[in-house]
Amino acid sequence: MIHARITGTGSFLPERILTNQDLERMVDTSDSWIRERTGIEQRHIAETGQLTSDLAEPAARAALAAAGRRPDEVDLLIVATTTPDRVFPSTACLLQQKLGIHGSPAFDIQAVCTGFVYALSVAEKFIKTGAARCALVIGAETLSRIVNWNDRGTCVLFADGAGAVVLEPSEEAGILSTHIHADGAYESLLTTVKPPPDATPESLADGTAFIEMRGNEVFKMAVNTLGRIVDETLDAAGLSYADIDWLVPHQANIRIIQATARKLGMPMERVVVTVNRHGNTSAASVPLALDTAVRDGRIQRGDMLLLEAFGGGFTWGSALIRY
Ligand code: UT7
Repeated sequence: MIHARITGTGSFLPERILTNQDLERMVDTSDSWIRERTGIEQRHIAETGQLTSDLAEPAARAALAAAGRRPDEVDLLIVATTTPDRVFPSTACLLQQKLGIHGSPAFDIQAVCTGFVYALSVAEKFIKTGAARCALVIGAETLSRIVNWNDRGTCVLFADGAGAVVLEPSEEAGILSTHIHADGAYESLLTTVKPPPDATPESLADGTAFIEMRGNEVFKMAVNTLGRIVDETLDAAGLSYADIDWLVPHQANIRIIQATARKLGMPMERVVVTVNRHGNTSAASVPLALDTAVRDGRIQRGDMLLLEAFGGGFTWGSALIRY
């Protein structure tokens, strides 16, 4: 049986760091509130003119280098993003040009914070059916462009970054299963809206849309839904909680991550946490966390990984991976 195996990971963060102390000077908030309620201490923010594809490119190159592959060997390119460079061409096509890849299929996936898990699920099918032999799958965001910097309920959460993986066929285990879901009935709880008439260029980076969230309701749905998808994923594989070596969760809020870890009976030492340093980078958050733990040596070949995410839509998903 052919599996899609992750042969390389990479990530990239813009240089500029925005700390909680910086935010204290921008809105009515405090470092202690942000740490206690979210676990976030700092986040990275793209420079003016630094677009999603600019963050995706170094992440992609790092993943290709780790896999020992050249860009011209890529025969499928998927970018998961909520913040594309333009309405069209897709960020995947713009990235394809930057990487010097010609002719491979390239397209974006929009599933907000679950985008990378969706993209992984699609790419896995291409590899398993033999339709692709070297897939580059990226989650990349410049969410700072759609944050309302006057809204303390959301501006302390979201941030920019990119993470990437290379998938190739393998007879050894790789991705064992992926599970993706959506329910548009909840579209209004986490959405983008047009700016109010009194919005200023300073409060809105691109002036077209900004994030609006009913945080507490999203929080409860996220905890319940992630608890359910963990069971669905393990049941499908006939595995138990004890078989998971590493939980690699979407990095939205440390309290949501802790609730999922509790449900799995996993000590926090087996959970990859980057939300403290990266904030919520939406589609980039899972591959960023994965690359962090691969590069620092925590995740080893043969480990069983559970990736999960929840986001606007609502969308949610998971992937079970023998790394
Ligand atoms: O990635 C996609 C999925 N997204 C998520 O999973 C996010 C889910 N939601 C959350 O992470 C949390 O709901 C938040 C971090 C957004 C908010 O935490 P909370 O514990 O749910 O707080 P809350 O919304 O119930 O607000 C509690 C209080 C309110 O004040 P009052 O009404 O009790 O006086 C808020 O106005 O905290 C206030 N508040 C703040 N205070 C200081 C809200 N944001 C801030 C802030 N600083 N930044």
